[in-house]
Amino acid sequence: MRVVEVTAYGGPEVLRMARRPEPEAGDVPGRVRVRLKAAGVNQADLRIRAGYYADAVGALTPPFVLGTDFAGRLLDPVPGMAEGTRVAGFIPWYEELTGEGTYAEVVRVAPEWLAPIPDDVEFTAAASVPLASATAQTGLDRLALPAGSTLLVTGASAVVGRLAVQLASAAGLRVVAVAHEGDESELKILGAEQAVPRGTPAEVLARVAEVAPERVDGVFDGALLGQGILPALKDDGVFVAIAPDRIPPAERGIRVEPVRATPDAARLKETLEKVAARELITRVADVMPLEAVAEAHRRAEAGHRPGRIVLLI
Ligand SMILES: NC(=O)c1ccc[n+]([C@@H]2O[C@H](COP(=O)([O-])OP(=O)(O)OC[C@H]3O[C@@H](n4cnc5c(N)ncnc54)[C@H](OP(=O)(O)O)[C@@H]3O)[C@@H](O)[C@H]2O)c1
Repeated sequence: MRVVEVTAYGGPEVLRMARRPEPEAGDVPGRVRVRLKAAGVNQADLRIRAGYYADAVGALTPPFVLGTDFAGRLLDPVPGMAEGTRVAGFIPWYEELTGEGTYAEVVRVAPEWLAPIPDDVEFTAAASVPLASATAQTGLDRLALPAGSTLLVTGASAVVGRLAVQLASAAGLRVVAVAHEGDESELKILGAEQAVPRGTPAEVLARVAEVAPERVDGVFDGALLGQGILPALKDDGVFVAIAPDRIPPAERGIRVEPVRATPDAARLKETLEKVAARELITRVADVMPLEAVAEAHRRAEAGHRPGRIVLLI
């Protein structure tokens, strides 16, 4: 089967098309196979490829197959889902460390990672959702803010932030979104009460202070601004950090919550049903063939994309 290997830690040029034997039914106990149609390109993929997480991925050394999010068709039946069912999910890379990611035609997955994709949701849209929605939902769980609280979401134009804005607003939080300039009105449609453009930390703090002069009860830091955005938070507020290297030191009684997403099939099923019902909006920026993976990584690294880049397999 066709796969994309990371041949060494480095820039997008280290990504190479390769051929590996296709997994066979039952060859790894507890795992089933999915024939992929689409794989999302995540920030974590870029960072693993570049070697930033070499410590976290431990004994795993190149060559390995990258990729976290996937959408495709079940090759082996699982309880409640027949062969051929359209499914999506993500591989919890940091727990698995098999080096068998989703930039591949066939992956082995645990049945408990899999949610069915509703008919109305395309494979490409489904592949943009699993890791991002798990991150947004886990972050909101950890915030545990009562309805009516104010929540600042940074990186609100991107996939994780956009979902956090919508889920928080649906849960009754008053959302202040820090967005890519020009996206403010869209974020308000998605549920943000206020939206301000991104900028330097000082500029963002000044803009947030204008719309939330009493400061906010919580921060969901989708843009990984870390310590720089802490002054926007009230004493005893709560800060959700979603990257291990951007966890600010606790101060003023602030509770800092590091978040790492783990698969939750039941929740993903509900989320994809909301996407199908247009109650939750995800966004795909580009759809590119698997063979164009190096270009996909270059685009993702070049900065603002209005949504997830998805590889078509
Ligand atoms: N903990 C976990 O389990 C987990 C899982 C998935 C993702 N993550 C992390 O979550 C983050 C968001 O994921 P994503 O897929 O949505 O990423 P993404 O597409 O890279 O989005 C990053 C967002 O941050 C914004 N941003 C970057 N620098 C900024 C700055 N200085 N000021 C304001 N905004 C800034 C970007 O703005 P522009 O749009 O203007 O460029 C973009 O909207 C990633 O860093 C990823 O590593 C964590």
